[in-house]
Amino acid sequence: MKSLLKEAEEIMENFENTDALDAALIAAAQKIEHYEIASYGCLVTYAKLMEHQEADEILSATLNEEKETDSKLTDIPMEQANVVQ
Ligand SMILES: [Fe+2]
Repeated sequence: MKSLLKEAEEIMENFENTDALDAALIAAAQKIEHYEIASYGCLVTYAKLMEHQEADEILSATLNEEKETDSKLTDIPMEQANVVQ
């Protein structure tokens, strides 16, 4: 996660304030979301295997929130940042 955040910082340092910067930052944010989705997905599996229903419900809710955020980040570039002018 530290490496992903460092990558986002480097993008901010190296890109001019353009649509390319927006697209690069969205991509960096999506990498973070994918990392979170993988992590919460594993934790949900472990909770199910250990039959911890409360943990399963909480972690599943968080996993769904991460997936929704990823979906929103996917929609933004399709609508705005990746538009060819
Ligand atoms: Fe997230």
